[in-house]
Amino acid sequence: MKHQRRGLLVFIALFAAMLSSGGCGGKNEDTHTAAKAETSASDIGVGPVTKVELSALDPQLAKKGKAVFEQKCTACHKLDERYVGPALKGVTQRRKPEWIMNMILNPSEMLEKDPTAKELLGTYLTPMTFQDVSKEQARAILEYFRQVDGAQ
Ligand code: HEC
Repeated sequence: MKHQRRGLLVFIALFAAMLSSGGCGGKNEDTHTAAKAETSASDIGVGPVTKVELSALDPQLAKKGKAVFEQKCTACHKLDERYVGPALKGVTQRRKPEWIMNMILNPSEMLEKDPTAKELLGTYLTPMTFQDVSKEQARAILEYFRQVDGAQ
């Protein structure tokens, strides 16, 4: 009987600990959600592109994009590893298409105003510069990134 009571006390203590840590975790989650909401409100970025309609991968367009990428971006970017800027493989999974195009077309304002771009600058410390890319070329580069990331 005595033994059972002790078991119960231990149980209650554990339960209380769980509750208190659960409460704390809940609070963290709230903060986390708030931070996420802030990012998603602005995750199309700042710039001329507000809506991109994606459909099946266009290999011709991706090919054009690859050529522009190799000419204008490889001084600072590789696909698979960090260079002056981030590795760009997987970028279509972490950013919206509009955000990617705005980063290409409007990097200086993005670095000034977009929370995600600002955070990147904090890490990479070199500001990305506009490479005289047209909107069509930026769209083609996006298609190339989609291809790299396995879009069909
Ligand atoms: C002068 C070097 C430089 C050039 C040239 C450059 N970038 Fe960048 N890029 C960066 C850096 C550095 C960052 C990270 C943000 C920052 O510090 O400005 C970045 C960030 C990015 C991002 C966001 C990556 C992520 O993880 O979200 C994309 C997309 C991107 N660049 C695409 C391009 C494309 C496409 C071109 C060519 C048209 C290009 N960049 C040319 C330096 C460069």
